Amino acid sequence: MKGRDLALAGLLGAACLVGLFFLLAGSGSLPDRATGSRLTVAALEMDLGPEGEAIFARAVEEEFGTWAQPRLPSNLSLALGVADDEELARGRRTWRVKCLQCHGPTGAADGPTARMLIPSPRSFHEGVLKFTTTRAGIPPLREDLARVIRQGVPFTSMASFGGLPDSAVEELVSLSAYILVRGPVERRAAEALTGNPFGPEQAQGRVKEAAAHVAESWTQAREEVVNPLPPFPEKTAKSVARGRELFLSKRVDCAGCHGRNGAGNGPRVWDPESGSYLLRDLWGKEVRPRDLRAGQFHGGGRPQDLFRRVDQGIKGTPMNGFHEVLSPEEVWDLVHFIQALAQP
Ligand code: HEC
Ligand code: HEC
Repeated sequence: MKGRDLALAGLLGAACLVGLFFLLAGSGSLPDRATGSRLTVAALEMDLGPEGEAIFARAVEEEFGTWAQPRLPSNLSLALGVADDEELARGRRTWRVKCLQCHGPTGAADGPTARMLIPSPRSFHEGVLKFTTTRAGIPPLREDLARVIRQGVPFTSMASFGGLPDSAVEELVSLSAYILVRGPVERRAAEALTGNPFGPEQAQGRVKEAAAHVAESWTQAREEVVNPLPPFPEKTAKSVARGRELFLSKRVDCAGCHGRNGAGNGPRVWDPESGSYLLRDLWGKEVRPRDLRAGQFHGGGRPQDLFRRVDQGIKGTPMNGFHEVLSPEEVWDLVHFIQALAQP
């Protein structure tokens, strides 16, 4: 009886804490306390020391505003297709209501529900999205962000926000893009500054340089899209058979991770000696290869989606693309084999 009372009290306490969090987060009067440091995780990892951090944070704020009042330098605004800082402010208002509980107040994936979810909500601070139409290593397009927001990531807790008006989606795209560039800019600038003492002017110079570099990469992304157009090669029995051979081959070794039958339990996944899973993603989380028999594709199940996944991989995960080892015809053979696995 006592134990149950205790458990109940604990539950009530936890509920109050969560309520308090929302109260604080929603009040808008405590932006800095609610968001922790003004720097992104990426910059904090660079360890600039307390004094350096303060100088650096001011330089970043000069260009990017605060999390409560985000703004962008004009070159980045242009590259990301952000109309103006007002758009960011509107995006942030929607973010706090719809996205904060999972992605956190600054997009670091530290919202109150984040811990309970597998896969974890994306942290935007590394600047990487998993499912894009662009090549490996290239930033996403606005369209990629809009697609994720409208359709969600199927078979994960990232739900669809298709009910929002187009204007709200565009505002969220702009705010998401803002967060996605801010981490890489801070990391690049902080990297350039570590090791030697620096003053405000140097810090600002490095932040501007990094912003210009990241702006350039977003502008270039439009030319780095993988967009196979229909008509797509037909799924014949021969193509499926060639796909199976490739899947099992040592050359690409899909089976090493996905297992010979596609169940996601290949020898590279699990270490029987230590009794642990071996694959981790960019965010440090354990990640398991998809069970391809289930046909539950998180990046979309259309032929062009599957082509992109095999050709360019899933960003930030050990599922690399095979563009460099496979011809487009071979990628299609694998797509056909995957489709056959999912619909035997
Ligand atoms: C219930 C929790 C939850 C909420 C609320 C939520 N997300 Fe997500 N989101 C996730 C999870 C989980 C993932 C990771 C999916 C994965 O790794 O496959 C994700 C991933 C994403 C991605 C990255 C997709 C990729 O390709 O890497 C974007 C962008 C995103 N969410 C935007 C948003 C926006 C904008 C909102 C608010 C309108 C929102 N999310 C609300 C859980 C959530
Ligand atoms: C190093 C391990 C590894 C190898 C090798 C590998 N994969 Fe994967 N694969 C993964 C992981 C991990 C995921 C899940 C990533 C995620 O969403 O977090 C995945 C996901 C997938 C998906 C799901 C895509 C989606 O939209 O959900 C497909 C399809 C796929 N792999 C096909 C292949 C094919 C075909 C090959 C060989 C050419 C291959 N994989 C090789 C680890 C691997």
